[in-house]
Amino acid sequence: MKVLNFGSLNYDHVYEMDHFTEPKETQSSLSYGRNYGGKGLNQSIALAKAGMPVYHAGRVGSDGQDFIDYLNRYGVHTDYLMKDDSQATGHAIIEVCKGQNRIILHGGANQAIDEQQIDDVLEHFGNEDVLLIQNEISSMTYLINRAFEKGMKIVFNTAPMDEKVFSYPLDKISIFIVNEIEGAGLARLETRDLDEIIKGLRAVYPNKEIVMTAGEEGSYYMHKDILIHQDAYQVEVVDTTAAGDTFTGFFLASMMKDGDVAAALDLASRAASITVQGKGAAQSIPDISQL
Ligand SMILES: Nc1ncnc2c1ncn2[C@@H]1O[C@H](COP(=O)(O)OP(=O)(O)O)[C@@H](O)[C@H]1O
Ligand SMILES: [Mg+2]
Repeated sequence: MKVLNFGSLNYDHVYEMDHFTEPKETQSSLSYGRNYGGKGLNQSIALAKAGMPVYHAGRVGSDGQDFIDYLNRYGVHTDYLMKDDSQATGHAIIEVCKGQNRIILHGGANQAIDEQQIDDVLEHFGNEDVLLIQNEISSMTYLINRAFEKGMKIVFNTAPMDEKVFSYPLDKISIFIVNEIEGAGLARLETRDLDEIIKGLRAVYPNKEIVMTAGEEGSYYMHKDILIHQDAYQVEVVDTTAAGDTFTGFFLASMMKDGDVAAALDLASRAASITVQGKGAAQSIPDISQL
């Protein structure tokens, strides 16, 4: 039993600025840093750190070799990661100024994933295996349909949530993982009231397993008439980046080991509570031995 995470890889180029650059202005940055990002990447690293064998399938440009090295360093298998010389590796240009940011996102190779690549990758997986996806790559409908045909269990973290999600064959998803904003979107609600979102999700998807995280409010698991709540652990928060990705990786790894939902929610919450105490994304995800 293995996990195939078919997902995004993004370079985050972070520039600290005196002020946000105006039209016609050329402005030097105060500092620069490059991080490895993408929800796909973070979740593969979280799965690996949780002790679950994980294959990351995706696509990078000719400048993407260090992504492959980076994933390998954490023990993520990259046999099905494709290098495409005609594309730029997905990236974000992030201006940071006085705690605010401004972001240009270019999907690049993440948005060049096509039916051929999906067929080539899925050939290596079968009905024992789990497919994990987020909403940051192309050809999602094809991917879901083919994986379902193979009998794979499909776990969908609907992030970032947008209208396209409703065009996917959602009946083929086994588990949805959302935060409260994505949960409201999935239930087509405007409200931020957690009870209403939970009610809405259970009404629209009564037969799906749904995991909803809600930051400091903890997390919820819903399936048919089951509703479980897990408190968040009280910690000093430094940076909540990748909290949700950590949660997804540890929850899934734990569920695949023994299927104990309450234990999986608890482990995922403990892991995410460590992530929020560190700066950055992948580097703040804990190893299972720390929990
Ligand atoms: N301030 C916090 N204190 C403790 N745990 C947190 C905090 N923020 C998030 N977490 C943990 O991380 C999980 C995911 O965070 P959340 O913000 O819901 O995800 P996302 O990053 O997708 O928005 C929460 O369910 C909780 O367990
Ligand atoms: Mg949040």
